[in-house]
Amino acid sequence: MSGDDQRDYDGYARLGLDRSGQAEAFDSIGDRYDEAFPHKEGQLDAGSWLADALPPGSRILDLGCGTGLPTALQLSDAGHQVVGVDISPGMLDLARGNVPKAEFRLADLADLRDGRLGVFDGVAAFFALLMLPRAEIPHALRMLHDLLRPGGLLALSMVEADVDDFAIPFLGNTIRVSGYLREELRQVVCEAGFEIAGENSLAYAPASTDVPPEIQLFLNLRRA
Ligand SMILES: C[S@@+](CC[C@H](N)C(=O)[O-])C[C@H]1O[C@@H](n2cnc3c(N)ncnc32)[C@H](O)[C@@H]1O
Repeated sequence: MSGDDQRDYDGYARLGLDRSGQAEAFDSIGDRYDEAFPHKEGQLDAGSWLADALPPGSRILDLGCGTGLPTALQLSDAGHQVVGVDISPGMLDLARGNVPKAEFRLADLADLRDGRLGVFDGVAAFFALLMLPRAEIPHALRMLHDLLRPGGLLALSMVEADVDDFAIPFLGNTIRVSGYLREELRQVVCEAGFEIAGENSLAYAPASTDVPPEIQLFLNLRRA
């Protein structure tokens, strides 16, 4: 790890991370998450980009993997070695059942900055970084940059919204989310050391009425 990276990680350590309620909310949501978001064409397209752009057998991190559906399963079925990480033990139980060939770890994504999982060829981070306060997101992206081999790929999705650590009702729970408008998101990923290889956005109306409609942003990124 270079001196510059170490300074970034020191900054991360000073943030005073507050995860209260986030894991408990997802433990209680369980597979209702997949019922609320039944159509995942945008996520599947972004997953296909990652799966096809890397040679079979590549090592891919599925960050905030949730139930493992659809992404860990899609990547595993494409012949990649998938490591799923999530902060919710309940989501991981579902993921282990849904994707038996993948490996799953219970961890806060911030803890991966110690390099405990080694280096990856690709990372999928679908609707995971939006669970962080904005102050943390650049550090998390920088960490993902450093977990990737040079030229490695990151498939990232976020919801387009100008909010920071904003509490929303979600399937009978309260979760806190952050987002950016697309121009700012592009800037944040480029500042973290990624090139944008592709981009997609789509309007999404969840099946459940207590989850608001959203604009989903998908960025296909390469470690510069
Ligand atoms: C909105 S869900 C997305 C799940 C999955 N990536 C998908 O797109 O279907 C966010 C997931 O991130 C997990 N999560 C939230 N904060 C996390 C953290 N700090 N570290 C690891 N996982 C986290 C939640 O438990 C949840 O499973």
